[in-house]
Amino acid sequence: MDATDYGKLKLFCGSSVPTLAREIADYLAIPQGKVMLRRFADGEIYCRFEENARGEDAFVVQSTCHPVNEHLMELLIMVDALRRASAGRITAVIPYYGYGRKDKKDAPREPITGRLVADLLTTAGVSRVLTVDLHAGQIEGFFTIPVDHLRALPLFADYLSRKGLANGVVVAPDDGAVRRSKQLADRLDLPLAVIFQRRVGTDAKEPIQVVGEVQGRTPILIEDIIDTAGTVDRAMDVLLAAGCVPEIYVCATHPVFAGPAFDRLSRPEIREVIVTNTIPFPAGGPPAKVTLLSAAPLLAEAIRRIHLNQSVSLLFV
Ligand code: R5P
Repeated sequence: MDATDYGKLKLFCGSSVPTLAREIADYLAIPQGKVMLRRFADGEIYCRFEENARGEDAFVVQSTCHPVNEHLMELLIMVDALRRASAGRITAVIPYYGYGRKDKKDAPREPITGRLVADLLTTAGVSRVLTVDLHAGQIEGFFTIPVDHLRALPLFADYLSRKGLANGVVVAPDDGAVRRSKQLADRLDLPLAVIFQRRVGTDAKEPIQVVGEVQGRTPILIEDIIDTAGTVDRAMDVLLAAGCVPEIYVCATHPVFAGPAFDRLSRPEIREVIVTNTIPFPAGGPPAKVTLLSAAPLLAEAIRRIHLNQSVSLLFV
């Protein structure tokens, strides 16, 4: 690819999403840049770029997924090294933006970690951010540098539309998922239902009401994140009690899959769990019933367009 005002496109990868980064490099038909990442004996991170970055258009791919603090710190250190190596522009490609769930204060004396991470990235020297499905749109506003915020929704819509679920109903498993669910329902030309849940702890909610017709219909739940799968699990109980078809589809952009997630998602009423690869699965790959849609083409095309100074908004349709 041609050099631009920002230099040649260079793609570097942290240790969080090696497969996704390889797919992005393949799509762009460029080799991954060489970078050495090591640990000191006490666990501190050391990084050295093993090729010239001076004046170049550097993209660093790193999801801030589990282990979140390690991956975040690794990203900050890589960006610091690139800045000190005089890279022309540094774009942090963060397929999964960790710490984004705390985007506001819900109670006194709480942090806003989504903002803190934005400040850390900017201070380290990031010039712009490319990310997928932030937990809340306002996180974009936590940055004073450009943010390209991609959505995985078209991937889910394309995949599900091929299944011909004429009897389906798109269900928002909590009020935070309403906008995304409405967009999916519109794309699939299906009705919408919403489950309202009340937060009763840091990781816990309880369902209080389902609004919309679900009886005799095949539910399609859509989330930004599945962490412990508690939200989805409770939503399923409500849907089944309301008489839905016990063949439930569950979609989520970011498969955090912590704690009891795998057990909960193996319930027999779940027909399929559809996620993207913004977070990798442990060795052995995704379990049965989990379908992986790659976010690589979306991210790679956005990188190509950012590098060539072309519109990225075309990717949203
Ligand atoms: C929260 O507001 C998010 O959108 C998800 O609903 C939540 O992170 C899912 O967590 P879990 O899978 O642990 O219920």
